[in-house]
Amino acid sequence: MTPNMTARPPADIGVSLDDIDTPALLIDLDAFERNLRRMGDAARRSGLALRPHAKTHKSPMIAHKQIALGAVGVCCQKVSEAEVMAHAGIKDILVSNEIVGRTKIGRLVALAREVRLSVCVDDADNVRALSRAAVDYGANLDVLVEIDVGANRCGVAPGTAALELAGIVARAPGLVFAGLQAYHGPAQHTRDYGERGAQIAVAIRQTEQTRELLSSHGLDCRVISGAGTGTYLLEASAKVCTELQAGSYIFMDGDYAKNRAADGGPFGEFEHSLFVHTAIMSRPTAGRAVVDAGLKALGVDAGMPDVSGLDGARYIRASDEHGIVSLEGPAQSVSIGERLNLIAANCDPTVNLHDWYVGVRDERVEALWPISARGPGF
Ligand SMILES: Cc1ncc(COP(=O)(O)O)c(C=O)c1O
Repeated sequence: MTPNMTARPPADIGVSLDDIDTPALLIDLDAFERNLRRMGDAARRSGLALRPHAKTHKSPMIAHKQIALGAVGVCCQKVSEAEVMAHAGIKDILVSNEIVGRTKIGRLVALAREVRLSVCVDDADNVRALSRAAVDYGANLDVLVEIDVGANRCGVAPGTAALELAGIVARAPGLVFAGLQAYHGPAQHTRDYGERGAQIAVAIRQTEQTRELLSSHGLDCRVISGAGTGTYLLEASAKVCTELQAGSYIFMDGDYAKNRAADGGPFGEFEHSLFVHTAIMSRPTAGRAVVDAGLKALGVDAGMPDVSGLDGARYIRASDEHGIVSLEGPAQSVSIGERLNLIAANCDPTVNLHDWYVGVRDERVEALWPISARGPGF
């Protein structure tokens, strides 16, 4: 749980872009704040609660900003993230995941004595383990039954399997049956709007039928949590979910930009606000630059990053500490020491590699925020 704060921030407050040490994780504060407001406003208009996913940013500073704009709390994917958020004053946390193992369950229920905490389940033995720990710790834990609405990740099947598990939760001492989690991950990144809509329509129907089945057995769902950046408007208009879990909207990663909107145009609701700021360290040939952001500064699981604002420059390969950028046309004029801004294809794993956000406005460093919940710990 100890935050990794050994690394120095890559900049001081007030310095210009050129004085930021590279590689660094930059936030364009204007774009970031517009993204925050846009999602806050959309949730308010829809009447659904907004519970943004903190796995994206891992920063209580950002979580507090989201709550100041109307979010009811945050989601975390791991107990380690929930601990950092709770200790920084976030009072309402959903661990949108299954938590197993005595140590982690002990940490989870200990936290439930300090803040309002919910967790997901998809297994009866896990429910019993949570219940025993909650009783031992004198904690009350809200529990959501996770249903698999097409993601093929965690979750029981919608319908009778969910009913059975919800009944076990409702009878378990120390646990409160709170409702369902129905999150469809792959739909978020389905490029075509119509296909995305069709996947979510199925998910919504399954969720609604499960809700009705549970209700007919006296199990009311106070909460139905789901949705991400790619589909939140679909869940918002269906009004079966009671809360939205979108996370990436604050930074808008490169992969999301490849989604298509209803009119076939770009999915442009949110702006790229997160950049890996990197310096050119070598210019071995006219067509090649080498930058100082490689695998240790960039998540490349969803593909190579885009180079922002430099036509003809393509980041083509990452090794540990080097990134190879191919250059064509006017891009070939770049020289050693110049900076490039990279848009990571997937923000979450990129954030997890860094210790600090460097918040920039009008070409000056305005904020330094520690990424306090980073790291692999669960
Ligand atoms: C359970 C859950 N909810 C919400 C999200 C947030 O989705 P996004 O970052 O695409 O908005 C994720 C992301 O993977 C997730 O796993």
